[in-house]
Amino acid sequence: MPNENTDPPDEPGDATSGFEGVDLDDVVLDDADEGNQGLFDDLLSGEPIFENKEVLRPSYTPHELPHRKEQINRMATILVAALRGETPSNILIYGKTGTGKTASAKFVSQELERTSLKYEVPCEVEYINCEVTDTQYRVLAQLANKFIENNHVAIEERVEELEDIRDSTAAEPAQIANTEFSSVEEIDERIGELEADAEEMEAVPMTGWPTDRVYNTFFEAVDYRERVVVIMLDEIDKLVEKSGDDTLYNLSRMNSELENSRVSIMGISNDLKFTDFLDPRVKSSLGEEEIVFPPYDANQLRDILQHRADVAFKPDALSDDVIPLCAAFAAQEHGDARRALDLLRTAGELAERDQEERIEEVHVRKAQDKIELDRVVEVVRTLPTQSKLVLFSTISLEKNGVRNINTGEVYNVYKHLCDEIDADILTQRRVTDLISELDMLGIVNAVVVSKGRYGRTKEISLSVPIDETEAVLRSDSRLGDIDDTQPFMQQARFDN
Ligand SMILES: Nc1ncnc2c1ncn2[C@@H]1O[C@H](COP(=O)(O)OP(=O)(O)OP(=O)(O)O)[C@@H](O)[C@H]1O
Ligand SMILES: [Mg+2]
Repeated sequence: MPNENTDPPDEPGDATSGFEGVDLDDVVLDDADEGNQGLFDDLLSGEPIFENKEVLRPSYTPHELPHRKEQINRMATILVAALRGETPSNILIYGKTGTGKTASAKFVSQELERTSLKYEVPCEVEYINCEVTDTQYRVLAQLANKFIENNHVAIEERVEELEDIRDSTAAEPAQIANTEFSSVEEIDERIGELEADAEEMEAVPMTGWPTDRVYNTFFEAVDYRERVVVIMLDEIDKLVEKSGDDTLYNLSRMNSELENSRVSIMGISNDLKFTDFLDPRVKSSLGEEEIVFPPYDANQLRDILQHRADVAFKPDALSDDVIPLCAAFAAQEHGDARRALDLLRTAGELAERDQEERIEEVHVRKAQDKIELDRVVEVVRTLPTQSKLVLFSTISLEKNGVRNINTGEVYNVYKHLCDEIDADILTQRRVTDLISELDMLGIVNAVVVSKGRYGRTKEISLSVPIDETEAVLRSDSRLGDIDDTQPFMQQARFDN
């Protein structure tokens, strides 16, 4: 790879002589020259691919969201009410994974807060990820503590303002006529009240209080000041799944009791059916407005990737077919932008690892395999032991050259394995269910075949790479000691 930087400098000390124009790369590399190339030097010098990898990571919130204008405008049209001091309708946002729901909601909330500061209208947005904060207690506690914190800041500002007024009126008593107060004592009294309020606002501990106390603290913190509050509950389906709809019920009927403030809820979900589990009142209140995020098609994914790639990569680091291929693969995965970005980043990392200067089609294909394998490894690793045993049985049969594996054969091997590791043996009916589950997870493929007068059975084949999957299974301490399965393989076919 041509890289002038690795040439030794003409004069020792060159890099430090003219400090101004020195590029960091030069400094680092000059230092490393004297025959002591370290572990990281090669890697550091070979960096033709990424300019800024961060913008391809899931944690990055883009400022521009191509192909989400319509959805973003609808959110804004509803939420603008908050800037007029009115209560915005509650919003439910739906869409499959990776369709830009979280990114769009965060973008809109940043804009809303920015505008509210600009026009000095009291409006606050609180974002909660319910996958992390998944019980009523935690949601209410987190909200309460945020509002208490904001109240403290507001009180502090007001106290400072009042102290200024008090000091200037003390110096020039006639000034009092220009204030809302009739005496300096009255100002002091107000300051005292505010400080007492601040003192009284006690943060909610993360466990231990009765829920109604948490709710009351939250309620009072919200209602302490006049303002409109938008509460964004991302992955709201996880909250409902884990702890029912009490939180949503409580939040959605708050407005009738609040005196100073108003609350509006924005729920985000990739599970279109979760509202089936809601109390009808909650369902209708939460879904006052619904916004759907459709999957991206390949062309839209190309645009999204191109926007990010312009910032993420060095010029010329991408060959022409890379972005279209990433987009095409991700479009097959139900138009998932997260997957598209993962592919692009991983392809770049693979090219970097190979010390290539350009990402080519082959890196994207390798990236696709790697991501798929990572997914499989994760799914297999977290299977319950019984499912692992069923999968292990299927793998053993395949490895021993058995073709057209049927449920009975899997069951026979499975029983042997259970014996060997002292696990409970489930009924064949249950094992058939576990096979269906593995099928749904995309780990095996099970098709029903007719055996004529012998009825029907399932033919099972593995849909994942056999050696890697076996390795993951064996890394489970219970399955690691399973001996060679060959001896009872013949038996398994025979028994069936
Ligand atoms: N229109 C877009 N423009 C640029 N980047 C986008 C766009 N849509 C999604 N992304 C990016 O794709 C990734 C996934 O998007 P996001 O997290 O918003 O998906 P989501 O709909 O919330 O998915 P999930 O349901 O899994 O939470 C993020 O990195 C996001 O920045
Ligand atoms: Mg999301």
